[in-house]
Amino acid sequence: MNVLITGGAGFIGSHFTKFVVNNYTDYQVVVIDKLNYRGNLANLKEIEGKTNYKFIRGDICVKEDILPQVSEADVVVNFAAETFVDRAIMDASDFLSTDVFGVYNLLEAIRGTDKVLIHISTDEVYGSLEEGFADENYPLRPGNPYSASKASGDLLILSYANTYGIRFKMVRPSNNFGPNQYPENLVPLFITNAIEGRPLPIYGDGQYRRDWIYVMDTVRAIDLVMHEGEIGEIYNVGGGNIRTNLEITEEIIERTGASKDLMVFVDDRQGHDRRYALDSSKIKELGFEQRYEFGKAMELTVNWYRENEDWWRPIKSGEFREYYEKQYRERLSKAGYGE
Ligand SMILES: NC(=O)c1ccc[n+]([C@@H]2O[C@H](COP(=O)([O-])OP(=O)(O)OC[C@H]3O[C@@H](n4cnc5c(N)ncnc54)[C@H](O)[C@@H]3O)[C@@H](O)[C@H]2O)c1
Repeated sequence: MNVLITGGAGFIGSHFTKFVVNNYTDYQVVVIDKLNYRGNLANLKEIEGKTNYKFIRGDICVKEDILPQVSEADVVVNFAAETFVDRAIMDASDFLSTDVFGVYNLLEAIRGTDKVLIHISTDEVYGSLEEGFADENYPLRPGNPYSASKASGDLLILSYANTYGIRFKMVRPSNNFGPNQYPENLVPLFITNAIEGRPLPIYGDGQYRRDWIYVMDTVRAIDLVMHEGEIGEIYNVGGGNIRTNLEITEEIIERTGASKDLMVFVDDRQGHDRRYALDSSKIKELGFEQRYEFGKAMELTVNWYRENEDWWRPIKSGEFREYYEKQYRERLSKAGYGE
């Protein structure tokens, strides 16, 4: 099988790429990634030089970048996206380009063929749930420009299946954590800040709930969908670990041995969705079993950031600093921290 992976130099995409290259040595794997500020070839170092893997720098918004690669592929797995909610709140334009127009380009590239698009969506498309769990038929009520862009991409795919009969499978994972996650997301930001002795800025009252899953469980779920999932079906992939941001912070404090004094409540994110919760029965019926218990996964993650400072320290001293200042300087100083 020829597998084209878009966005394979990012967090989840790189773990998936390594998994496929290492486990299916008879598959040919091509990664296309634009290498935005989160895309990082260091994430793929382990498979550099493998004969069944090739990396190409390219943008899914540029037809000429993707057409030759899509034409060689049997399956296209789309991880490429702008992914961070706080940046979408600052400026949504790149999100609309990649998460909507980029998806349109992929759809156009597979239209009229029997290639399969495996699209990685998100639980955020369901918006905030006061109670209960969202299954795959739950209405889409995205609450921020990131999730609205992702939901738009999803709807476009459904419309192309209805109109042109394109073949797709879709996966909606919940909040992932694990090694190689860019240190602006809650878990890696707080682990690395804790190691550096910097404050851990908690939005609002910290009572925002997410369903957390270890990245390697998500990778195995996507692999299962790629091989066993039905064409035209959507699969939620949650970890069943619903935790508040405050609970996650306390867990990180405990595991890094940092001082509780580093915890600081700051002004909330705008339009902050209160709670996400997935019903993942459908992927379980397909045979998915989680392997990583939450505490064990957190331990592995904290250890990875401890042991891989050469991966995240250069990131945190580059463009990241500018973003961090913009996002947190005023918030922290209002809360009495003059960082
Ligand atoms: N991380 C999570 O918790 C989570 C949860 C649910 C769903 N998802 C979805 O999973 C996918 C991967 O998420 P992630 O956390 O690994 O993201 P990431 O930001 O770490 O990686 C995204 C990758 O896509 C690349 N990219 C961005 N725009 C591109 C373009 N126009 N053309 C080609 N490549 C481009 C980036 O360079 C980067 O390597 C995304 O679609 C995201 O919406 C993520």
